[in-house]
Amino acid sequence: MTRKLTGMTTCLLILVTGLTLGLSEPQPKPTTIKESLDTAIDDERHAIAFYEAVMAKFGERRPFSNIVHAERRHEAMLLEQYVRLGLTPPANAWVGKTIDVPDTFAEACDASIVAEIRNGRIYDRLIAGTADDEVRDVFERLQWASLERHLRAFRRHGSGWDELKSDDLTKEQKKQREKAEEARSAMYGELLGELMKAIQKGGPTGAIDVCSKRAPDIAKAAGEKHGVRIGRTSWKLRNPKNQPPVWAALLVDERPESARFMADDSGRLGALMPIRLSGTCLKCHGGSSDLAPGVKDQLDRLYKEDQATGFKDGELRGWFWVEVPESAGADAKRAE
Ligand code: HEC
Repeated sequence: MTRKLTGMTTCLLILVTGLTLGLSEPQPKPTTIKESLDTAIDDERHAIAFYEAVMAKFGERRPFSNIVHAERRHEAMLLEQYVRLGLTPPANAWVGKTIDVPDTFAEACDASIVAEIRNGRIYDRLIAGTADDEVRDVFERLQWASLERHLRAFRRHGSGWDELKSDDLTKEQKKQREKAEEARSAMYGELLGELMKAIQKGGPTGAIDVCSKRAPDIAKAAGEKHGVRIGRTSWKLRNPKNQPPVWAALLVDERPESARFMADDSGRLGALMPIRLSGTCLKCHGGSSDLAPGVKDQLDRLYKEDQATGFKDGELRGWFWVEVPESAGADAKRAE
């Protein structure tokens, strides 16, 4: 447990699409007490909204039923500080928003683990930047509740994802890793092949279609062929649907430059493998002087929230993520 906690706490981000538990970048350090309180209350309200959405899907179950009460108390404690300081709290930005909930209860707990760890990190930042003793005391209490109580409760019901060091991989896990690498190479080769062909035929603007329409099909086909789930993700997304799976969320927060691995209690192996940019990529992911003519207009039209420009040659662009079931390692073992 302790190892898991420290393993996970060295990192940070989330899962599902759009309005889930914060795929947003960590915000700049707040400068005023109001900004600190606003950041804290927004994160508590976000958690409440997500936990309520989980209960709407899976019923009033523990640990969500208990923890949502605790989060409401946290919100009330923060509101008291606004009153004490004569400040006006912001409107609740999460009211009425549709929140995506993962498919299974265990994944909802996994997502909540990510949220609580991120919440703890937000408080690290806020505590360091707050001069008011009373507010700091509230922040410390709320952080303690997240990291000592909520996190443990969610871990008891989650999938048990934990980081594996490359040296600690068992023989079966090494087979799973090989599978992940094979699937990654297959998907990358296919994608690059189609991209180059399309650029030759229709220029970069014509090739945007390959990325937007073909990439998901290529991922699906590579996944089916290799018996894995596979996709691409980044901390700067072009398509908000390319969120990392929940097991990769905290790793993505760390922006690893080399491959990282996770395993869960059911024997799944998760691999996160870096993708770097080369010259051709810059036609669609570079700064304004690198982008090919017409590309910017088309991206503006297709991807309203595009964050994936401004990169330089050789830079990290994102990662392939591959999730390999236990059977991949076991089959390989039997075949030996
Ligand atoms: C012709 C334009 C174009 C080129 C060239 C291009 N990309 Fe992309 N890239 C896109 C588009 C469009 C998407 C969004 C795909 C989608 O909708 O899933 C994308 C998405 C991605 C993603 C997924 C994460 C996200 O932001 O949604 C990664 C990773 C990525 N590109 C890396 C690369 C790399 C590496 C290269 C060079 C080998 C490259 N791209 C070349 C247009 C391009």
